[in-house]
Amino acid sequence: MSKELYENIYEQAFSFGENWAEYLKKLDAEKIQRAQKSLEEFLGKGTIKGKTFLDIGCGSGLFSLAAIKLGAREVTSIDPDKNSTECAKYLREKFKIPSKKWKILKGSILDKKFIKKLPKADITYSWGVLHHTGDMWRALDNAISLVRKKGTLYIAIYNKYTGPLSSKSWLKIKKLYVRSPKLVKKAMELLYAGEQLISLAIRLKNPIAYVRNYKTDRGMSFMRDVTDWLGGYPYEYATPAEIEEHCKRRGLKLVKIKHRKGTGCNEFVFKRTC
Ligand SMILES: C[S@@+](CC[C@H](N)C(=O)[O-])C[C@H]1O[C@@H](n2cnc3c(N)ncnc32)[C@H](O)[C@@H]1O
Repeated sequence: MSKELYENIYEQAFSFGENWAEYLKKLDAEKIQRAQKSLEEFLGKGTIKGKTFLDIGCGSGLFSLAAIKLGAREVTSIDPDKNSTECAKYLREKFKIPSKKWKILKGSILDKKFIKKLPKADITYSWGVLHHTGDMWRALDNAISLVRKKGTLYIAIYNKYTGPLSSKSWLKIKKLYVRSPKLVKKAMELLYAGEQLISLAIRLKNPIAYVRNYKTDRGMSFMRDVTDWLGGYPYEYATPAEIEEHCKRRGLKLVKIKHRKGTGCNEFVFKRTC
């Protein structure tokens, strides 16, 4: 993809970072601990300690911070959205982490020149990012190129879902959302949130308690997840088998997978075998 085309896509892209500035205001120790727990649970206890960690599409910087708290030797966080890199820098400052230990760089995983300057990492992490780049398979190849020998790749990619409200239909809804004026966006958010809460009530779960206690394993809030889901465009998806096969052909062995139903993110841990 040419730089010009990428910039075109990126201009239309949703800025997750605008939400994160808000989110960080409410970030507490419990949310940080949940982020640490989610990394450790999937990668294995103690696996980050002493390792280099590359966070592609760092967003708020929460998971880079979690990696540091879990003992990573050096963390590099990249994101093309200035709002995101500013959020990560805010966290770095707040937690008094030296910039030598936590490098934060504004740049895209699709930018060959930029990624050439990045160090290959022991753990390359990209959660919910590659499918938002506008060129998922190339982004995945570039991420793979940053996994060092015997290193680990931890990625989360949207599942290809063909049932009712399929991935294809969501692509249309998201396109509409990002192109709509603010008021329509708000209405769509309320509609989607409302639909979720009503379906909880139908299943005899208390929707008010659900929102109040809403903290997914990754420490996000309910309304923030609603906005991120609707606005998350560009949007691509793949079946677990497609991702596994793609990585296998590039010398990576699947060691762990978490399947999601519907349109959620499947999570994968791969090891570089050569
Ligand atoms: C859904 S957010 C996930 C953020 C974070 N990884 C997390 O788990 O909270 C997607 C992130 O990918 C970033 N992103 C989009 N295009 C990218 C690209 N070409 N290269 C790197 N990051 C990108 C966005 O700016 C955004 O911060």
